[in-house]
Amino acid sequence: MDIARELVPQERRKPLFDDPLKLPFGRNFTDHMFTMEFTPGSGWCRPRIRPYGPLQIEPSANVLHYSQEVFEGQKAYKSPRGEILMFRPQENARRLNRSLSRMCMPEIPEDSVLEAECALLKVEERWVPAQKGASLYVRPTVIGTEAALGIKPSSEYLFFIILSPVGPYFKEGFNPVGLWVSDTYSRAGSGGTGEAKTGGNYAGSLLATLEATQKGYSQVLWLDAGEHRYVEEVGAMNIFFVIDGKLVTPALGGTILKGITRKSVLELAPELGIQCEERRIAIDEVVEGIASGRVSEIFGAGTAAVISPVGKIGYRGKDYTIDGGRTGPWARKLFDTLTGIQYGELEDRHGWIYVVK
Ligand code: PLP
Ligand code: COI
Repeated sequence: MDIARELVPQERRKPLFDDPLKLPFGRNFTDHMFTMEFTPGSGWCRPRIRPYGPLQIEPSANVLHYSQEVFEGQKAYKSPRGEILMFRPQENARRLNRSLSRMCMPEIPEDSVLEAECALLKVEERWVPAQKGASLYVRPTVIGTEAALGIKPSSEYLFFIILSPVGPYFKEGFNPVGLWVSDTYSRAGSGGTGEAKTGGNYAGSLLATLEATQKGYSQVLWLDAGEHRYVEEVGAMNIFFVIDGKLVTPALGGTILKGITRKSVLELAPELGIQCEERRIAIDEVVEGIASGRVSEIFGAGTAAVISPVGKIGYRGKDYTIDGGRTGPWARKLFDTLTGIQYGELEDRHGWIYVVK
């Protein structure tokens, strides 16, 4: 790709790094963004790195009415040797394309996605925090921009990438969070878009999440839409349980986001000495297991959330506290191993690390 560049003077803004671990999630953005357009005549064209700023789109643009949109969530880390590292970005590029295909949007060659991310990260190198626990969050996004109110796929699109230096996603940091189980709302149904990373899934989850936070929980633990019986995932992460000494997570079936952290945990855990299982998990099994002690740990896994221990679950008006609300040993071990690999401190035996060059 021949990426055009319109750069701002370096001295214009200083990265806000007094205490990178206090950076709020997704509130500060770097000096530049990447944009690329899609038109029926030219396909993907006009790749550009330009100053971060408002987009100009028509008020009648498809995305503003019918939500033809997909996005990804990745992070860039600084290694002790000063390199910029990404974690399995090829997987994100692949998932971006699966989401695009589900939403009737034109795919982008994986190589072009990686090339765009690397080019932008090289320009914004000084925004990658050096402190472990902080990182530069990468948000590739594609929107339908055709000015047309008929319900059909847009003929024009914009792909953009923005970057945001971030600290921990939850205000609790690595301390256990509380989850509220909704047995009325649903996130995704069979045949729907649950597996795609598309904005509508998140818009549809806001009301339940608001209820959860009003009740004092951090996020919603979603159940299946059909029976409200089986655990699916959390608002911004996949979910894991240690049941009878085994690491168990809901099997994927089209409604759950195929998390890259989830996949990595399933690959790492057996090497660390715990057997894994993907299967249906009834919420009754979880709450009974917490009460009896068979469920010894619960944690979420995601890019923004990394590994987030769960201290309590609220279900049908009752709170179930897991192991006194403490962080469990498997959450700790997986957090340390995963972040050790991501920040380039541990050997990358799986070939998951991508050095930005
Ligand atoms: N589930 C949902 C709904 C998410 O938003 C995320 C975050 O991206 C995840 C799971 C975890 O996915 P990943 O590990 O690829 O970040
Ligand atoms: C991520 O973990 O990257 C996410 O996208 C979760 C959330 C912020 C939407």
